[in-house]
Amino acid sequence: MTEIIERVKRLLIVDPDERFSLVLRSVLGPGYSVGRVSAIGQGIARLGGGDIDLVLLNWDWPKLSPVAREEREELLKAAASLPAPVPVVALTGDGRRETAMEIIGQGAYDFFVQPLDVLELKLVIDRAHRMVTLARDLAEARGFAALSHLGSMVGNCKSMQRVYDLITKVAGVSTTVLLRGESGTGKEVVARTIHRLSPRANKAFMAFSPSALPETLIEDELFGHEKGAFTGAAQVRRGRFEEAQGGTVFLDEIGDLPMPMQAKLLRVLQERSLERLGSSAPVQVDIRLICATNRDLEKMVQEGAFRQDLYFRISVFRIDLPPLRERRDDIALLAELFCRQFAEAHKKNIRGFTPGFVSALVRHGWPGNVRELQNVIERSLILSDGPQLGVQDLPPEFNKFGIPSEIPSGSFHEAARQFKREMVLAALRASSGNRMKAAQGLRISRSYLHRLLKQLNIPTEETNAEE
Ligand SMILES: Nc1ncnc2c1ncn2[C@@H]1O[C@H](COP(=O)(O)OP(=O)(O)O)[C@@H](O)[C@H]1O
Ligand SMILES: [Mg+2]
Repeated sequence: MTEIIERVKRLLIVDPDERFSLVLRSVLGPGYSVGRVSAIGQGIARLGGGDIDLVLLNWDWPKLSPVAREEREELLKAAASLPAPVPVVALTGDGRRETAMEIIGQGAYDFFVQPLDVLELKLVIDRAHRMVTLARDLAEARGFAALSHLGSMVGNCKSMQRVYDLITKVAGVSTTVLLRGESGTGKEVVARTIHRLSPRANKAFMAFSPSALPETLIEDELFGHEKGAFTGAAQVRRGRFEEAQGGTVFLDEIGDLPMPMQAKLLRVLQERSLERLGSSAPVQVDIRLICATNRDLEKMVQEGAFRQDLYFRISVFRIDLPPLRERRDDIALLAELFCRQFAEAHKKNIRGFTPGFVSALVRHGWPGNVRELQNVIERSLILSDGPQLGVQDLPPEFNKFGIPSEIPSGSFHEAARQFKREMVLAALRASSGNRMKAAQGLRISRSYLHRLLKQLNIPTEETNAEE
């Protein structure tokens, strides 16, 4: 089993000057998150958070004071002494041998002489990241870091880390679990993961949803029947609970369970036994129950539509799955995963996305959550002529202009400025920095683009490749 949580490479730039981080953010694209602090001390503090994979340190601190020099050494020491050491790559404009010796001598993982060569820098970053991943895996294998192994689950944001944590904690015990979240947020994935990590893993996992089924059918599916229980019942039939003996039953959409079935389910949980339809002989069942709902069960209890005693019984251990719009940082990561999977499945040679595509994804409202994202990627991939997925491949209802579906709070001018900035950066990337082409792409004049670059404070490195 490849049980790895896919991760964004999280870079921390320690640099008083913002420009380098802006350039880096725009050239690295999805798969990397770039943060910046403007003081070395802040950098040391951030390292303690344990969420940094690599530090890029501006070695040529302007007017380096003796204090700053000490701080720089301290940063290197702090990074090296973490339980999972974080590599520090120094950036310098000074190509002399002494400088290189000093940098490596102080414990930096590598150094990089400016001017910026994106490919080379990416290589250094990726190599450092591989090293740190290996080191962490090793530490984990030795039992240092207790990072959960959650197989196919992807997501790196805080709320998903919390979910992983809860999954790992509850998997080992047979407690009933209630998964709450909108449709498509991964409730079934979580249920399967809990089962797979539990001592019941080599027994059955039975999933069942009562939605849109008539009550008699639900009863028959869950509890089974005796021969002759009703007309047409020619054979004994074991229900899902019995079929799952020793394993896990996943009851999806539990809010759709009719009242009489709720009573029968409660009995299964209380007495660990059930009776098939048409029989009064109890059958012992040993199952673990995982329930899921996208409805507000508490409200249903108040309204008398859900049994309170059953609710108490099933809600001992709750896991709330955040909707995708509340974890936008994970969108690019998930999109990449699905793109790889579908490219393979459909035998299409697609390599990644245009920046506009990612930006449209990130701004979408995602009422259908991860499932919707999966569908959108598959559809785009089928439509695309490659080599990258672009906005033109997105469904028509998609908000290609990236106008947020909710009215954002805060300053209108700031939001408009941000929007302009993203459009200009995307156009520059698409034209590899060629301003003439970028202006054409945006359908504005070159001189207006020039003014925009100034107004929006877009660094000139971004546009080095002059026509
Ligand atoms: N964290 C995740 N990582 C990878 N794939 C996911 C994740 N969450 C959901 N998916 C995928 O999204 C789809 C919907 O997930 P599912 O568990 O069926 O959602 P729900 O049961 O909440 O409606 C599935 O195809 C699933 O594989
Ligand atoms: Mg589901």
